[in-house]
Amino acid sequence: MEQLAWLGGEPTRRQPFPVYTTLGDEEKKAVIEVLDSGELSRFLGTWSPDFYGGTRVQALERDWEAYFGIRHAVSMNSATSGLYAAVGAAGISPGDEVIVSPYTMTASATAALIYGGIPVFADIDPQNFCISPDSIRQRLSERTRAIIAVDLFGHPAAMAEIMAMAEEHNLVVIEDAAQAPGASLHGRPAGTLAHMGVYSLNYHKTIQCGEGGVVVTNDSALAERLQLIRNHGEVVVKAKGTEDIVNMVGFNYRMTEIEAAIAREQLKKLERLAKARRDAADYLTERLMNMPGLTPPYVGPGVQHGYYLYAMRYDEMEAGMPRADFVEAVRAEGIPMSAGYVEPIYLQPLYQQRIAFGAAGYPFTMLPFPEAVSYARGLCPVTERMHFKELVYASVCHANVTRADLDDVVKAIGKVLGYAKVAKRGNGVA
Ligand SMILES: Cc1ncc(COP(=O)(O)O)c(C=O)c1O
Repeated sequence: MEQLAWLGGEPTRRQPFPVYTTLGDEEKKAVIEVLDSGELSRFLGTWSPDFYGGTRVQALERDWEAYFGIRHAVSMNSATSGLYAAVGAAGISPGDEVIVSPYTMTASATAALIYGGIPVFADIDPQNFCISPDSIRQRLSERTRAIIAVDLFGHPAAMAEIMAMAEEHNLVVIEDAAQAPGASLHGRPAGTLAHMGVYSLNYHKTIQCGEGGVVVTNDSALAERLQLIRNHGEVVVKAKGTEDIVNMVGFNYRMTEIEAAIAREQLKKLERLAKARRDAADYLTERLMNMPGLTPPYVGPGVQHGYYLYAMRYDEMEAGMPRADFVEAVRAEGIPMSAGYVEPIYLQPLYQQRIAFGAAGYPFTMLPFPEAVSYARGLCPVTERMHFKELVYASVCHANVTRADLDDVVKAIGKVLGYAKVAKRGNGVA
């Protein structure tokens, strides 16, 4: 048996794993055109034609609407800005509860806090790692106003169930599809499955413009509110004739013309780049699915996965090796792999100490009594189990990866699990 690199043997590969790159001559040309035009931005925070931004910003929004089959796309300078604007547009007020997954990038939850909303964490589904409709149901209270459902790792959340629940309880649903451009559910693009959807265009996403985001909606009133929040709404509402001024304190969430020009070129590549991810993931799954202790990514009925990350479940009893050792051994073989994703959000100091804005504890002070919403360890047992014990992920499925690279992934994992099996027998575990 080959000695593991972890124990001093030869690694499966020495060359670094391919980096994901999506930029080419098209983006270069588009950027030069913007520079030649002299117009890096054309936003004005007043009620004028320039309230909606420059030529390329508006062109990106029209392209996005056509591609995703949605009535309104509002570009932002990040998905974080997009989530904040979406929560504002939804009319969230101090003390309103917003149900969200604790297993996501931090901004999915802080979006609620910005408007004085209280993030209420519902547990995840152990198969697709997205928020569980059953857990959402258990967290509903008379103060619940919205749900933020995240399409984690590119797998759409259970949007049909979530939208049905929202209808029944009169809630606004925001789909955080930051990780899911190119994914779909029963043929409908991820991001278009809720009242508002938010995409990220930051540099580690499937398509990118450095930093950027887009919010989509079929609701004209929400689109108008998103545009106002993006661009100094408070000074615009009077001239524009907007009467509903709840949450119309505006920000500068505006995208530049350079980012928009790049994003337009990237959107043309989305289909190809998303397919490359799926093809790579399918290739890997076929070869990993019978390995002991590993469960490759689940793909639900009607789901086209976006594979932002290739996340698996690891069973250390079945594999015969602690997760931390497995991950370290696979990394030593030259394959990028990580244990757990982000720490469950409610374990952050912000929630543990209930300190967000000012020292007095706002907005948590808006709750009728502190324990009305819990952030205790153990709150979301599935999330904690996935994070601390079972989930492993690799960012190895993308357009720059070859079949030979993926074969190395399979070989390295097989080598480590083969060793674990022998060690397990030697220890009398099996
Ligand atoms: C699920 C999720 N939501 C929101 C964001 C925020 O995106 P951005 O970096 O564009 O602000 C990210 C970024 O990683 C994300 O993964």
